[in-house]
Amino acid sequence: MEIKIVENTRDVECDVLIVNKFEDELTSNPLVNKYAPDTFKGKPGESFVIHTRGELPSTYVLAVGFGTEQNLDNNIIRENIAKAVKKCAELKAKTIALDIDTNFAFGVQSVIGAEIANYHFDKYKTKKEHRISEMYISKVSNDVVLAQYVAEGMKLARNLANEPAAFATPSKLAEIAQSFEGVGTTIYEEEQIREMGMGAYLAVAQGSSQAPKFIHIKYAPEYPRRKIAIVGKGLCFDSGGLDIKPAASMLNMKDDMSGAACVLGIMKVISKLKPNVEVHAIIAACENMPSSNSYKPGDILTAKNGKTIEVDNTDAEGRLTLADALCYACELGVHEVIDIATLTGACMVALGSAASGIMGNNDEFVKELIKSGEYVGEKFWQLPMWQEYRDNLKSDVADMRNTGARYGGASSAGMFLKEFVTDQVRWAHLDVAGTAFLDKPQHEFSKGATGVGVRTILNYLLSY
Ligand code: BES
Ligand code: MG
Ligand code: ZN
Repeated sequence: MEIKIVENTRDVECDVLIVNKFEDELTSNPLVNKYAPDTFKGKPGESFVIHTRGELPSTYVLAVGFGTEQNLDNNIIRENIAKAVKKCAELKAKTIALDIDTNFAFGVQSVIGAEIANYHFDKYKTKKEHRISEMYISKVSNDVVLAQYVAEGMKLARNLANEPAAFATPSKLAEIAQSFEGVGTTIYEEEQIREMGMGAYLAVAQGSSQAPKFIHIKYAPEYPRRKIAIVGKGLCFDSGGLDIKPAASMLNMKDDMSGAACVLGIMKVISKLKPNVEVHAIIAACENMPSSNSYKPGDILTAKNGKTIEVDNTDAEGRLTLADALCYACELGVHEVIDIATLTGACMVALGSAASGIMGNNDEFVKELIKSGEYVGEKFWQLPMWQEYRDNLKSDVADMRNTGARYGGASSAGMFLKEFVTDQVRWAHLDVAGTAFLDKPQHEFSKGATGVGVRTILNYLLSY
């Protein structure tokens, strides 16, 4: 959608003018004030639409409830603008305008909410969804441009996770990474991955006819305040391998590269957002497939840092690919590492789709990320990193096994990853298994990929 900034949105000739209504207060719009029924109080979620019959420059006015002004926050704005935009699409509107009457800085969240609502994954449908093409917004601040880049990053992340595995292959991800501007991209092929000693990652990849691609994208501003690595789980398809998943569990496993999609979404727009930090994006992309070449339960793998892993279950593959990626990240001499992964069904069982799990080796860092997410509307819930979860990973024949006990799986996975992070770096692990892909609409999101992590991590990077 094209965003147009004008002095006064009330005078714009468009299909729908969106106005806000605070609870039990009048709106900026005379027609709404005159004709809205008493039942329309202005609570969040309520709306009222009226045809202007030529009395105003817009064809319709849509009033949306914002609740009380003192309770107004980013989430209320974003969700209610998203809802309004969906309503505008139902009215078959092409051009809309926002007349938001408040001192609250609403620009960024309005644009992001509108873009989230206007997103459809209809590439493979012959009949396309209706989309809003232009949105007028009053001069609030130049942050609207920032919001458009964030939305662009989210859109790429959502598209890639929604794409079938037949399209979003490791090679495709590599190709996309190489197309980004303002960054430097290196792709390591299988041969080089082996030379780097990434035995855990390669074991996962060996069962697929799709070649693995290790992707490293670097964004380097002139005077960086810090060096940060962001690592995304890039399982382009997770069948479970020889420990194959039942059909119902395999159904959405094209989304097992949502962490990678998030990282790619961020790197697509990072050179336009220009944070004052050096950012290294790392993806160990591959597929987990059953075949006569597959790695097997009982195999003993050696990761890049020399630690050995007994394969207990070939479906606990994400942590094996991340192990080598985390070693690589730490060797870059970064101060901080954030990994994002659709890692465990256990995290999904614990938190559902309401929040992502978060763990790390530094509570302060974890808290900073939780706060960053809270501000942009992504929830993270800290899970424990206790020794008990590490004890579950003990192996008789290697330094560790790749799975723990039946319960507490999200924390066991976190303790596994910790083995591949050096103590000097601040590290946080985001488990987005439950939040990356929705099986029913939630808040401003439709079914399917959410692009989770893009906003939180970008907001964090921009805080420097
Ligand atoms: N990709 C899955 C985790 C997952 C599950 C993501 C559901 C999204 C939705 C991961 O590779 C996996 O298979 N994990 C296993 C680990 C188990 C074998 C220890 C799981 O959670 O069942
Ligand atoms: Mg798996
Ligand atoms: Zn997986």
